[in-house]
Amino acid sequence: MARRKKIYEGKAKILYEGPEPGTLVQYFKDDATAFNAEKRATIEGKGVLNNRLSEFFMTGLANIGVPNHFIKRLNMREQLIRQVEIIPLEVIVRNFAAGSMAKRLGLEEGTPLPRPIVEFSYKDDALGDPLVPEEYIMAFGWATQQDMDDIVALALRVNDFLSGVMFGVGIKLVDFKIEIGRIWDNDYMRLIVADEISPDSCRLWDIETGQKLDKDVFRRDLGNLTDAYTEVARRLGVLPTNVTHTTKPTLIN
Ligand SMILES: Nc1ncnc2c1ncn2[C@@H]1O[C@H](COP(=O)(O)OP(=O)(O)OP(=O)(O)O)[C@@H](O)[C@H]1O
Ligand SMILES: [Mg+2]
Repeated sequence: MARRKKIYEGKAKILYEGPEPGTLVQYFKDDATAFNAEKRATIEGKGVLNNRLSEFFMTGLANIGVPNHFIKRLNMREQLIRQVEIIPLEVIVRNFAAGSMAKRLGLEEGTPLPRPIVEFSYKDDALGDPLVPEEYIMAFGWATQQDMDDIVALALRVNDFLSGVMFGVGIKLVDFKIEIGRIWDNDYMRLIVADEISPDSCRLWDIETGQKLDKDVFRRDLGNLTDAYTEVARRLGVLPTNVTHTTKPTLIN
């Protein structure tokens, strides 16, 4: 039996060679890591939920004209994507202070920010993905000024879309992280959203109760992660609200 080629295995996903040149298959694992992989666990069902949720967000973004790598979902854990050259940055957008920003500035988590703040960290696990100023990004040639303008514009569009979608289901989008990649159409280069958008890469708080519905549940031992992600998926209509098990097929006239 032919075995497909594994391109890369990361902490949360595996990339396989796709059926056509320029495509990849992205497999969502159940593995969760935090604090630069110091904390690890396998959380049953996480990969299935993230595959669905990332499909939902990427499809929505494509529908409002935000280009991204998603082509189609293949099965419970896999999706077909366009292969990109990943820009080695985590592009972070923050609407409210939380996590490392709250710590760095001594702000209480949840403090509203005067406007959305876009920040960048250099993707390097060995260094712990350090925060980098735009000056470094351009000096080291990771992206040009034009790329940075495009990246910020993309990140803010994703922010507006995700904030609105989440608000519609009673969830506050505190912050999130995306990755951007380059694709080439003949001689032209374009930047598109890649990787994943899921509760692994967002901070999501219930608007009414403040309950955390994202990976902080795992980072901070706040309960069952699958339950939190299932709740997000259920509210967004990504999962059926009540799966009914009928004992025999029903004939519909
Ligand atoms: N469309 C794409 N084309 C090529 N590479 C991609 C694409 N989308 C995501 N990737 C890369 O695939 C990998 C996904 O694996 P995973 O998220 O598990 O990695 P990770 O352990 O978090 O490591 P990393 O620090 O590289 O993200 C990441 O390195 C990501 O940058
Ligand atoms: Mg990753």
